[in-house]
Amino acid sequence: MITITFVTNGNKAVTAEENSNLLRVSLRQQGGIPFKCGGGICGTCRCHIDAGLENTDKVKNKERKHLTDADIEAGYRMACQTFVTGDVSVSWKVPEKAAAARPAVQAPPSPAETAVDPSVEPTDEPSVEPPQTAAAPPPPAP
Ligand code: FES
Repeated sequence: MITITFVTNGNKAVTAEENSNLLRVSLRQQGGIPFKCGGGICGTCRCHIDAGLENTDKVKNKERKHLTDADIEAGYRMACQTFVTGDVSVSWKVPEKAAAARPAVQAPPSPAETAVDPSVEPTDEPSVEPPQTAAAPPPPAP
């Protein structure tokens, strides 16, 4: 068994069989690597092998459509095309849409934000006008 650490997913570490497909392990064990096609076409599963690059298989031609030589040299791979033969740590860029969809962690309001404005007098009156009712139709002409 080998260990795959999903760095971008809080360093979640899982074990897998040797020669496992990186994206498949991510899917089975909720590793979190983004993907769409699973077949080397879309480029969504681009990831960086932070550690253990020597434990990955040969770069495929499909990967070269999405990665430059410099990317490959720097440790980038397409997870759906990568098989791992030993321990690896993998990270990836979170897609902007996914990042935007995540609920933002909101800090509690500061005392200044919740303080009552002393210049505003308390009142029992509603702060909005009541809805207008339609005027009655005019009486019929004699
Ligand atoms: S998931 Fe589309 S290229 Fe890997």
